[in-house]
This record gives sequence, structure tokens and C-alpha cells, in this order.
Amino acid sequence: MTNFDERAKDWDSDPMKVDRAKTVGEAIRRAIPLAENMSALEYGCGTGLLSFALQGDLGQITLADTSQGMLDVLTEKIAAASVTNMRPLKLDLSADALPNEHFDLTYSLMTLHHIPDTKDTLKKFHDLLAPGGWLCIADLDKEDGTFHTDGTTDVHKGFERGELQQWVEDVGFTGVKFSTAFEIKKKIDGIEKIFPIFLLAARKA
Ligand SMILES: C[S@@+](CC[C@H](N)C(=O)[O-])C[C@H]1O[C@@H](n2cnc3c(N)ncnc32)[C@H](O)[C@@H]1O
Repeated sequence: MTNFDERAKDWDSDPMKVDRAKTVGEAIRRAIPLAENMSALEYGCGTGLLSFALQGDLGQITLADTSQGMLDVLTEKIAAASVTNMRPLKLDLSADALPNEHFDLTYSLMTLHHIPDTKDTLKKFHDLLAPGGWLCIADLDKEDGTFHTDGTTDVHKGFERGELQQWVEDVGFTGVKFSTAFEIKKKIDGIEKIFPIFLLAARKA
């Protein structure tokens, strides 16, 4: 069982995580033109908080994650809400074959910093998008390592925006734009610290 499997059942009981997903959803709505005929892939969906925030704006959404625990909670939530346009998928882009379909939008929230090979993942996001498709990535700005107290699942201490932009452009995206979509406040050694979350939006040429 992974750390995320264990945390899945309690994930939605943290109001910050719910607020974060809703606020990032609003930032995505401001950054790109969503439409009810757009197909979407959320990568690292967890319990689906972000996709639940966006599902009324989109067509079919595939929600992918490597944690079976997260996907089990998500499956229960989809059934309870009687939502028909959300489909859970166990997928590890670093090991599995790519899904045999193309999406109009790929998005992820707080997932990229857990994946060792960032450039490979960005390349696969690009491969999975239809021409003109959109990419939205929300994640931590570069931090000093104090954000995560559990060093087992986080492999990057956030990202430098300029460096991430270069990687995204290297795999073929254009029109890269950043905004600050959310701020996570955490007490570190008794002192409140703010960790900004960026939203990167870009387009497949
Ligand atoms: C910090 S959680 C964020 C979950 C959700 N996006 C949210 O904001 O509530 C990171 C998620 O990424 C997933 N994850 C970790 N490594 C992954 C990988 N290599 N591929 C896909 N998902 C991964 C975890 O299982 C977990 O659900």
C-alpha cells in the first residue's frame, strides 16, 4: 500500500485541499476557454477534487492516478454523485502504454513534483493531446524543502517557472503563461509560511 493509498479515505476531509481544487479550477477557467465538447485527462487526480470542480464545463473526463486507494474513493464519489462524464483509470505514464486516444485538455494539480522524470511526463502529455489541445499544470513554486515532511513521495521541491517553461516548450508547447493560482499556508517550526501554487497554461501547436 502506498502513502497515497493510506491517505485516500481522509483526503477530502482537509478543507484546504477542497478549497485548493476549487480555486485552481477557477484559475483554469480564466486561463483557457473550456467547452462542454472538450475531452480531458486529469493526471494524478487523487479523489477527483479538481475534476469535480470542472466537470460541468467539460465533456468526457478521464481521471488517471497510480494509487488504487485514491481511485477507489473516486469511484465511490462518482457513483454517489451520479455523474456520467467522469471515468477513473489506473495509469502510470512512466511505465504503461499510452491510452489509445487524444484529449483536448490535460491538467494536473500537485502531482508533477511527485514524478521523477518531469520531461518524460511533459512529452507524454504532449503526445496525448490533440492538435491545438491545452495543458494546465498547477504545482508548487520552488521551495526550500520544508513543504513536505514525508520525504518518501515527493521528489521535486517545487519548480522554477522559467525552467519548467523551457521544458514545456522543448516538448512542443507554445504560448506558455503562468499565474499564481493558490497559496498554501503552513506552520513550519511555529512560524506561518506561504507556499505559492502556480498555474501553467500552454497549447500544443
Ligand atoms: C498531492 S496528491 C494530489 C491529488 C489531487 N490532484 C489533489 O489535488 O487533491 C498527488 C497525487 O498524484 C498521484 N501520483 C503520484 N505519483 C504519480 C505518478 N507517477 N503518476 C500518476 N499519479 C501519481 C498520487 O497517487 C496522488 O493521488
